[in-house]
Amino acid sequence: MPIHLGAAWYPEHWPEERWQVDLDLMRAAGLTVVRIGEFAWADLEPVEGQFDLGWLVRATEMAHASGLSVVVGTPTAAPPAWLTAAYPEVLAIDGSGARAQHGKRCHFDVTSPLYRAFCARVAERMALALGHAPGVIGWQIDNEYNRLTYSPQAATAFRLWLQEQFVDEQGRPSLARLNRAWSTSYWSERYTDWAQIPLPAEDNHNPGLVLSFRRFMTHAYREYQRAQVQAIRAHADPSHWITSNFMGFFDGFDHYPICEDLDLACWDHYIGTGNLDLDRAAASHDLTRGFKRRNFWVMETQPGCVNWAPINNVLNRGEARTMAWNGIGHGADAVLYWQWRPAPGGQEQYHGSLLGPDGRPRPFYREVGELAADLQLVGPLLDGTTVSAPVAVLHSYDDRWAIDHQRHHRGFDPLAHLLHYHRPIARRSIATDIVSTRADLVGRGYRLVVGAPIHIVDESIAAELAAYVREGGHLVLSARSGFKDYNNALPPQRQPALLQDLAGVQVEEYYAVLDTVKVDLSLGGATATGEAHTWAEWLVPGRATQVLARYGSGNGWLDGQPAVTMHQAGRGRVYYVGAWLADDLQDRLLAWIIAQAGVEPVLDKLPVGVRASRRGDVHILLNGGREAATVTLPWPGKDALRPDRAASDQIDLGPYGVAVVTNDQADQYQTGQRTSDE
Ligand code: GAL
Repeated sequence: MPIHLGAAWYPEHWPEERWQVDLDLMRAAGLTVVRIGEFAWADLEPVEGQFDLGWLVRATEMAHASGLSVVVGTPTAAPPAWLTAAYPEVLAIDGSGARAQHGKRCHFDVTSPLYRAFCARVAERMALALGHAPGVIGWQIDNEYNRLTYSPQAATAFRLWLQEQFVDEQGRPSLARLNRAWSTSYWSERYTDWAQIPLPAEDNHNPGLVLSFRRFMTHAYREYQRAQVQAIRAHADPSHWITSNFMGFFDGFDHYPICEDLDLACWDHYIGTGNLDLDRAAASHDLTRGFKRRNFWVMETQPGCVNWAPINNVLNRGEARTMAWNGIGHGADAVLYWQWRPAPGGQEQYHGSLLGPDGRPRPFYREVGELAADLQLVGPLLDGTTVSAPVAVLHSYDDRWAIDHQRHHRGFDPLAHLLHYHRPIARRSIATDIVSTRADLVGRGYRLVVGAPIHIVDESIAAELAAYVREGGHLVLSARSGFKDYNNALPPQRQPALLQDLAGVQVEEYYAVLDTVKVDLSLGGATATGEAHTWAEWLVPGRATQVLARYGSGNGWLDGQPAVTMHQAGRGRVYYVGAWLADDLQDRLLAWIIAQAGVEPVLDKLPVGVRASRRGDVHILLNGGREAATVTLPWPGKDALRPDRAASDQIDLGPYGVAVVTNDQADQYQTGQRTSDE
C-alpha cells in the first residue's frame, strides 16, 4: 500500500457542479485519498427511512475517476434532528441528569439499542451502495467516540453486564462476589439486588464501581461499533478495511478491545496551541501503532491551525511537513488533513483548511504539495515497511482510570507519568512500542520493557512479565506498580504485590510529596544528586537486590531509605523506581538502564533537536526546530528526497528539515549479492 496523502472532503456542503474543481485541485496538490460521509446523516437519510445516497455515490465515482481513493465514514456521530426529536431516548444523559441537546455532535446515547439499530441501518445502506464501488478502500465507523452516558438504559445495560462479570463457580451471576470485590460493607454500600447498583455519576464513588463502569462503557462502544462493522462487512468487498479514528491518549474508553474488531487503527493528530514536540507526538504515534501492533493512519491532522484551542496559532512554515514525516517515521501509512474546505457556516468556520471559502488554495495548500512531492519520490521505498522496536512501554486504561480516580497527589497525572518514561527513550531516537499491559512480550525481541506503572496486576500480567524477564529481558517498574488488583482493590500483600519476587523489593510505605525530596543516585560508580517530587516510596530490597538510589533528607520517614533498586531475576533484570524523579535524574537513570539493556538508538550522536526513526532499511531524519543542523552518519547515506546529491556521511537539515536516508553501502552490497546470485 502506498503512503497516502489526503483530506476530509464534505461534498454535501457544496453544489455538485463544484465537485470536479475540488477534485482537480486535490490531484494538483498530489492528494491520493479523500474521506467522505462522516456527519452527513441529514443528507443521507433526510427523512426517517428515506435514503438519498445518490450524491455520495456520485461523489465517490468522481473521486475515483479523478484518481483518488475513498474512505467512507459512517455518519453516526451526528444523528439528524428528525431522529433526536422523534426518539429523545437516543440522546445521552450527563452526570447531572441533563439530556444532550441537538445541534452539536456525539450527542447520542451509546447504550441505546434503538440508536444502534438506526446506525446499523444507515451503515448497511451505505455498504449496499458503496461496498463494491471502485475507488473505495476502507470504512471509518463514526468519529472520535467520546461521550459517556448516565441514562436509565445505560444503568440497565450496566447491571446486566455486571451480572456477566461477577459470577460464581457455576457461572451464575453472583452479587456476593461483587460485594466482596468492591468491599461494599464500606459505608453500607452492600447491594442486595442488582437493580440497586447506581451509575457513578457523582464524584467519590466506590473505586470498584468506578472502574467497572469505565469497562462497561468500553463494552458499550464495542457493541455499538460492532453493529456497524457487521452491517458493513455483510455487504462490502472483503478487501475493504474498517477503522475508527481516535484521539491519541484520550481515555474515554479502552482502545485495546475496541481495536480487536477493527482492521486498522487511526488517530487524529492536532497540536492546538503551540508547536510540534517531536517526542510527544511520537508517543501518540507509538500508542496508535501499538493498538494493532502494526502500521496505522493519521486520519486527521491540522492544516496549519485549528479553531478550538485557546490560541489557534498556525504552525510555522515547514513545520507541518515535519509533523507528517514524524508520523510516517513512526509507522503512519497515511496522513489526511482536516479539512479540505470550510463550510460557510457551522461551528468550525475558523479552522485551517486547504482551500478558502472562495474555493481557492490557501497558503497551506502549497505545503501539502511539497509533502506530496516527497511521497511521490520516496513512497515506494517505504512500501511494506514498518517500525521494529527494542523497547516497549506498557499502557493500560484501567491503570489510568484507577489512578485518576485516586491520584493521592493532585499532580500525579498518570499520562504525564507515563510520558516521563517515554520521553527519555524517544529523545534518544530509540524506537519504542507503546502496547497494552496485557500484550504478549515474550519472543517480541524487546530488550527493555517499561511499566510506568503497572498499577493493576493480576496473575496473567505477572506471569507474562516473569516469563519475559526470565528470558533475559530488562524490566522497569515505576512507583505505584502492583498497587491494585483486577477490581481496583488493594491486594493482600505490600506493593508491588504479585511482582514482589520478580522485582526483589517491597514498598514499606508510600508518600505524596508536598515539595521535593532529595535523591542520591549511584550508577556503576557514577553518582548524581537531584530531587524527586509528587510521589516517593520507601523501598525494602530483598537480600539479592541492589540499591541504585537513596533518599536524602526529606520528611524524616524517607531519609536514607532506598528509592531505586535493581534485581537480577533469572537471565533478566528488574529495576524498581519508587519515586517521581526530576527530569534530569530521570534522564540519567534511563540512559543507564538503556545502556545496561543493550538498547541501540536508530542513530547515535544526533544534533540537539534532531530525531531519527527507521522503517525497514530507511532512516527518516527530522529537524524539529528552526536552527539548521548537520547529521553525521556512521555510513555514507543517500537522501532520497534529494536524488541529485551524492551519498555522504553528512546530511544537512535546514529548519524543520526532513531527510529520508538509505545506507548507500548496504544498497551496493545488496545489489552486489543479487547480481552474484543470478
Ligand atoms: C476532530 C474531529 C473533526 C474536526 C476536527 C477539528 O476532533 O474529528 O471532525 O472537528 O477535530 O480540529
